[in-house]
Amino acid sequence: MLFQGGKLVFRLLIAIMVMGVTAVWGGESRQLCLSCHAPHRGGDCTSCHLGNPLSDRKNIAHAGFREGKYARFMTMDAGQRKVGEYLLVRCGCRRCHVSAGVGNRVAASLDNVAILRTPRELAHSIRYPVANMPDFTLDDGQITELVNSVLAGSKSGVKPRTEPVSVHFTDSGTKKNDIFSQKCGHCHKILTTRRGALGKGEVGPNLTGIFTPYYPGTLTSGKSWNISELRRWLKNPRAVVSGARMQPVILTDLELHELEMLLSVSAI
Ligand code: HEC
Ligand code: HEC
Ligand code: HEC
Ligand code: HEC
Repeated sequence: MLFQGGKLVFRLLIAIMVMGVTAVWGGESRQLCLSCHAPHRGGDCTSCHLGNPLSDRKNIAHAGFREGKYARFMTMDAGQRKVGEYLLVRCGCRRCHVSAGVGNRVAASLDNVAILRTPRELAHSIRYPVANMPDFTLDDGQITELVNSVLAGSKSGVKPRTEPVSVHFTDSGTKKNDIFSQKCGHCHKILTTRRGALGKGEVGPNLTGIFTPYYPGTLTSGKSWNISELRRWLKNPRAVVSGARMQPVILTDLELHELEMLLSVSAI
């Protein structure tokens, strides 16, 4: 008796599994999103919105889904994409993060982060940045554009690379004896490839990746920063940018060399 009952349960299990598989293979028409929503734009809802198409319970169906405003990148033309890309460039996100396969590697790759986090979490991280990411004081519309841009970059076909574990020391308790912490760190911050986060200051801009093409173009000449421009700047900021507020900082050649090493970060 017991044995036969076991067989019955077994058959039932098989039947349920087959039903489940058919529901998955059933494709578009089986998307239970449609039990609550009218069809729009054609195609599977989940191809643009993610979520779980096999449940007709909202909380389950919506788990990890993309709201409409974060699905826009799926339908954008090249012109509309430019807005988000412009912000990404103007803020210099790639001086720290890789996006669409390019950028410096001193913080997490946004191509990977876009897969691991919901768009809402991405927006939250931009609105309330961690200690070593600058606060760009962007409005909601700009943050939505950026999130769409990050999502578009992540799906642009570039394979995310495995990352080195980046550890950002906020306060090691020991006095930092590197040249940046001593001479610049009261007013500036940087992320470095070898030494983690240095500096605590916010009055001057975050200088991470200053010698790379991803640093915002702040020189009036339109050129990128390099070591000789930096030397000129440190000797007399006003000789480089009229009206600059920073005081000159006099460094020896050895100190300048150490500074150059710290300011050089690894990129792909
Ligand atoms: C049980 C009903 C139900 C199911 C099933 C359901 N939804 Fe919804 N959905 C809602 C309701 C109600 C809202 C209105 C906003 C809210 O209450 O969250 C909504 C809102 C949305 C929005 C708009 C959110 C925004 O702010 O842009 C999207 C997109 C969406 N649903 C997509 C989906 C997708 C995709 C699925 C299937 C994977 C799905 N929904 C399944 C009930 C449902
Ligand atoms: C090709 C991509 C795409 C597909 C497929 C798609 N959507 Fe959307 N959906 C969008 C975009 C983009 C928006 C946001 C429109 C905007 O904000 O300009 C949106 C908005 C929504 C909204 C918010 C309310 C509204 O009308 O703005 C709901 C709800 C929604 N979609 C549900 C669904 C459901 C359910 C399906 C499947 C039947 C689906 N979507 C398929 C791209 C898509
Ligand atoms: C000066 C370096 C720097 C710049 C510039 C920067 N970030 Fe970040 N960002 C960080 C650091 C550090 C973290 C913390 C995670 C880590 O260590 O990688 C972070 C975290 C994030 C996260 C959350 C990552 C996660 O794991 O959830 C997002 C999203 C993000 N940044 C987006 C941006 C965007 C978009 C821009 C441009 C508007 C930007 N960042 C500019 C340093 C930076
Ligand atoms: C007492 C505060 C202070 C110290 C110390 C300081 N800076 Fe600055 N720095 C600033 C301020 C404020 C700005 C903003 C631009 C200005 O001067 O108008 C700035 C701007 C810069 C810029 C221009 C960046 C840009 O994108 O426009 C560079 C480069 C720079 N600092 C490098 C350094 C270096 C390297 C050191 C250390 C050797 C250093 N600074 C020390 C306050 C400081």
